[in-house]
Amino acid sequence: MTVIGTGYLGATHAACMAELGHTVMGVDVDKHKIASLARGEVPFFEPGLPAVLERNIAAQRLSFSTDYAEAAAFASVHFLAVGTPQKRGSYAADLSHVEDVITELVPQLRGKNTIFGKSTVPVGTAAHLQDMANELVAPGASVEIVWNPEFLREGFAVKDTISPDRIVVGHAGTTDVEAIAREIYAQPLSQGTPLLVCDLQTAELVKVAANAFLATKISFINAVSEICEIAGADVVPLAKAIGIDDRIGSKFLGAGLGFGGGCLPKDIRAFMARAGELGADQALTFLREVDAINMRRRDRCVDMAKAAFGGSLLGRRVTVLGCAFKPNSDDVRDSPALSVAGSLSLAGAAVSVYDPQGMDNAKKIFPTLDYAESARAALTEAELVILATEWQEFRDLDPAATAALVSRPYLIDGRNVLDIDAWQAGGWQVKALGRSL
Ligand SMILES: NC(=O)c1ccc[n+]([C@@H]2O[C@H](COP(=O)([O-])OP(=O)(O)OC[C@H]3O[C@@H](n4cnc5c(N)ncnc54)[C@H](O)[C@@H]3O)[C@@H](O)[C@H]2O)c1
Repeated sequence: MTVIGTGYLGATHAACMAELGHTVMGVDVDKHKIASLARGEVPFFEPGLPAVLERNIAAQRLSFSTDYAEAAAFASVHFLAVGTPQKRGSYAADLSHVEDVITELVPQLRGKNTIFGKSTVPVGTAAHLQDMANELVAPGASVEIVWNPEFLREGFAVKDTISPDRIVVGHAGTTDVEAIAREIYAQPLSQGTPLLVCDLQTAELVKVAANAFLATKISFINAVSEICEIAGADVVPLAKAIGIDDRIGSKFLGAGLGFGGGCLPKDIRAFMARAGELGADQALTFLREVDAINMRRRDRCVDMAKAAFGGSLLGRRVTVLGCAFKPNSDDVRDSPALSVAGSLSLAGAAVSVYDPQGMDNAKKIFPTLDYAESARAALTEAELVILATEWQEFRDLDPAATAALVSRPYLIDGRNVLDIDAWQAGGWQVKALGRSL
């Protein structure tokens, strides 16, 4: 098989399919990425992935290429894992990369082929790509497009790919797709992972519906946290109390700076845009509110920072701990932490940022921030500290030792993960989103 697009999703999928015993070629248009992967170096941070990559290159089950002719000759099963970012100036998804793959790959295919779409796409995309493929396919060859959405979480991507909690395969019902899927995923299926087979549209919608639900759950608790702040209540015990009800559940119920990353924000926007195109925009107008609540948390954090200095951030030294969109990832796409750091800087603060993995990517987006070598260096002489990404390293900070580094022990816990009593006992003035402290 090939895996086309070797970013966060594709590189992980390629290495893990090899780990499951398949012979895999990873394909990308980015020469540097392919050269790095071929050397056994993962060009991003994903725990556990380097070992899987190295092991499978050494076992000659995994290779990499930038050449579509080579890819077409190599396999009859192709996974499509290229990006579907938000289109510039629009809420819709930019489908140019998935279309480019069909245009490049399909004319070069011979015999019978199956393309498994893994990218997150608006409903109807697979049928559109099938139409494109039917126009482009060489005489005597055949191509079936099926949709096999991906649910991996960055930070847990290896485990989620090798032992997924479900496998969804959508197809238009012409060939033996289910048998191919059963062969590819034989190992997880033998361990009890459920396989759900459905039509193409349903498979596409499963993924965006799942992300819309997760985003809604986070924004729900963040909306409640806005009320908590005004009413003098505390969103942390509130979330714990409602999360015990297993109809609600405690996961994705952490109030704080909200969601970000390369998936949730663009996926809910693309879902709204697609609903509009289908004439059903009313069905998803609530997602606009979900998005707005999420973005308001960032503003609220910046307002809290201003209030910590009596209204003006000009010339103030603020340390932002974290710039990745979540811990255990170096992904800074639409990161709430980086957005807050950037806004503080634009408001005149001298912002020092530290993140264990995200800084190289952050420097490309916000080169003007000061990126420190360590948490200790970032904290030294700070007048305000904001915990913006809940890395374990930050959760483990000792309040008293940290107080000794800063010039003013004032903390905003943007993720509601710190032991507030311990920090207050360590001499800190503490503020947190959704809490009246
Ligand atoms: N990252 C995740 O956790 C995750 C989880 C589930 C689903 N997804 C979905 O998977 C898709 C990919 O996401 P990602 O985070 O891996 O993105 P990414 O930007 O990290 O990777 C995309 C890769 O595709 C490559 N590419 C672009 N055009 C190409 C072409 N014509 N041929 C070959 N390669 C090409 C790019 O060079 C890049 O390496 C998106 O649709 C995303 O929504 C991502």
